[in-house]
Amino acid sequence: MQDLAKTFKQFQQLTDRALLRFLPATDIKPQKLHQAMHYSVFNGGKRFRPILAYSIAKTQQVDYQQVEACACATELIHCYSLIHDDLPAMDDDDLRRGKPTCHIQFDEATAILCGDALQAFAFDILLNHLPDTIPLQNQINIMKTLSYASGSFGMAGGQAIDLESADKAISLQQLEEMHNKKTGALISASIKMACFCCDMQDQQLLQRLEKYAHLLGLNFQITDDILDIESDTLTLGKPQGSDQQANKATFPAILGMAETKRYAQNTHQAILDELEGLNEDYDILRQISEYILTRKH
Ligand code: IPE
Ligand code: IPE
Ligand code: MG
Ligand code: MG
Ligand code: MG
Repeated sequence: MQDLAKTFKQFQQLTDRALLRFLPATDIKPQKLHQAMHYSVFNGGKRFRPILAYSIAKTQQVDYQQVEACACATELIHCYSLIHDDLPAMDDDDLRRGKPTCHIQFDEATAILCGDALQAFAFDILLNHLPDTIPLQNQINIMKTLSYASGSFGMAGGQAIDLESADKAISLQQLEEMHNKKTGALISASIKMACFCCDMQDQQLLQRLEKYAHLLGLNFQITDDILDIESDTLTLGKPQGSDQQANKATFPAILGMAETKRYAQNTHQAILDELEGLNEDYDILRQISEYILTRKH
């Protein structure tokens, strides 16, 4: 796991450097909006979605430059989703990544616009900075993948189900559908987009990676739900107990904590089974699943 921490750090640095190059500087008009964008992007996020893109490149021994634009685009969609997720009309949280949320630091209107602008900017990066070495059809597929994963069939749709489900008893199947959309879609998209960047052709391998991504995304939100209860605000960098306070539909709320942990462990095992037989180049994907299961924030 020490090697993994080092690799994560390398991928986080690659992401941060690229994002800094891409984002409009804070002294460019409208300054307040650009300041809010920088504030909400450079604030200690784990960069998990970019890490997945770089990890796929690593498994294929492909130059990291090849996935850079995708890594940044998925992170920007993610940052935008967090800004809107924290708004008073949604989860109404005032702490994110250890700092006041965008609407607290700036104001609500700026936070809404900041999310809007980051979403558009994600696609701007793809349109302008995908390397020419990626076949044109793959470039189109990359943009299709991200737009689908971000919209009403993906993240935004999952967020709508999340809001509708507060104070309600929903089934395990509905809960999983919500998790798959609100968090899984973007995580799956990161992996799928990276596969297009690497121009991978082995259909059987692609299918296995798709299943891997699906299970990983599910486990990422399951552990997010667990941490909301078991961690503390300082470690999380966001308010502990936010889900319980809003009476959200979560895995622990529906299954209980012990069963939720068993579910996460079983999902991790299913992930390892999915990767069975792939050589040590794929160890990073196995380690990532282990990391999700044991993460503290
Ligand atoms: C939190 O995502 C919200 C979910 C989709 C579960 P992360 O845990 O990746 O948050 P950051 O990017 O590290 O802040
Ligand atoms: C958010 O889920 C998923 C998004 C699409 C942003 P949560 O509401 O559980 O995320 P946190 O716990 O506030 O980070
Ligand atoms: Mg939420
Ligand atoms: Mg939230
Ligand atoms: Mg949460």
